[in-house]
Amino acid sequence: MEKSSRIPGFYKKSLEERLKFVVEWAGLSKEEADLLYKFGNLEPRIADAMIENVVGGMAYPFAVAVNFRVNGRDYLVPMVIEESSVVAAASHAAKMLRRGDGIKALADPPIMIGQIHLVNVTAPHYKAAVILEHKEELLEHANQQDPVLVKLGGGARDLIVRVLDTSIGPVLAVHLLVDVRDAMGANTVNTMAESIAPILEKLTGGKARLRIISNHAVYRIVRAWARAKPEDVGGEEVVKAIAEASAIAEADPFRAVTHNKGIMNGIIAVALATAQDHRAIEAGAHAYAAKDGRYKPLSRWVVDENSDLVGYLELPLQIGIVGGATRVHPIARIALKILGVKTAKELAEIMAAVGLAQNLAALRALVTEGIQKGHMRLHARNLAIMAGATGDLIDRVAEEMIKTGRIRFDYAKELVEKLSKQ
Ligand code: MEV
Repeated sequence: MEKSSRIPGFYKKSLEERLKFVVEWAGLSKEEADLLYKFGNLEPRIADAMIENVVGGMAYPFAVAVNFRVNGRDYLVPMVIEESSVVAAASHAAKMLRRGDGIKALADPPIMIGQIHLVNVTAPHYKAAVILEHKEELLEHANQQDPVLVKLGGGARDLIVRVLDTSIGPVLAVHLLVDVRDAMGANTVNTMAESIAPILEKLTGGKARLRIISNHAVYRIVRAWARAKPEDVGGEEVVKAIAEASAIAEADPFRAVTHNKGIMNGIIAVALATAQDHRAIEAGAHAYAAKDGRYKPLSRWVVDENSDLVGYLELPLQIGIVGGATRVHPIARIALKILGVKTAKELAEIMAAVGLAQNLAALRALVTEGIQKGHMRLHARNLAIMAGATGDLIDRVAEEMIKTGRIRFDYAKELVEKLSKQ
């Protein structure tokens, strides 16, 4: 009989019942079911409350990047990622950028945008003015939704109205600018946007079609910049080549996307470790990269008048240390403790610094030995460990695999057996 995925009330079943259903559906073995039912360091109870229809857990490695010095302070940076080489590369570049205060970074105040889109508005420019006339009242109403935020120094700050020309006629886009302090801000901003929507409808005679945060977080910009001495990066030739790679990304959107992907490798790994909404971060970052009408690199590297390599990164980071999964996931709390950050601003600055370091590591690898050699070295080491190698044997097995070009698990096993006898 044809299987149906239409399962009324699936969400109401217990976790175990749901898992049983999936096991039968997919014909999972007992071992597979048992493995899926492992939650690692996230209690089933918490996992089940975090999202819907939970049937199991999935662990990712949690690592710390070393050598980071940001704004004169040393940090161990938690990173969660499935890709090899990223953590090693970040640590390596952080070492190159340790001189003086290390990487510098500065985050703007945490202003997020709540949007209310009003349709069926006649005389839209006139109505935009009417809305602005009631700005103070609207801000006050928004702030009544979150007295705690206001007490902490945050809250609705400003209101902007845009008139959009759309295929359904003019639409008013009302932007509520909210200082969300240490939160990512989606909850607060969405609540505020929903709360003022009826007032806007009354003022304009229109209908509030959408009431939601904008992840184009153009006010919440973080900048990171750093300087490296040629001798720390591999010499003047390498420095020049990195600057050339940066210029290429500037001119070529195809390259800029990959360039930015490298930056996001670092940023998203920290975002995952601290349980951020990484989709928001990604969406915001790439929109920012294209803000001038053409997709651009988020960072730039040039050689300065002292022949030093200087890099600059700028992007929006919508992250928080209170509320959301950051507070719920026990490992995210541990990640924040390892980082030792007290504010979302500090976390954003570290994340930008990691992005810049990650970018430097990628460009340096690309303009020197290429990316594959390092990848393969790590891959070979991983295979050696999986094949049972320990201590010195790991490197001996890995080296042999690289030398012969046979980087495969079966060969790793063969080598472990052979070399461990010697
Ligand atoms: C791979 O995950 C990231 C890189 O492709 C970034 C880049 O090309 O700059 C190496």
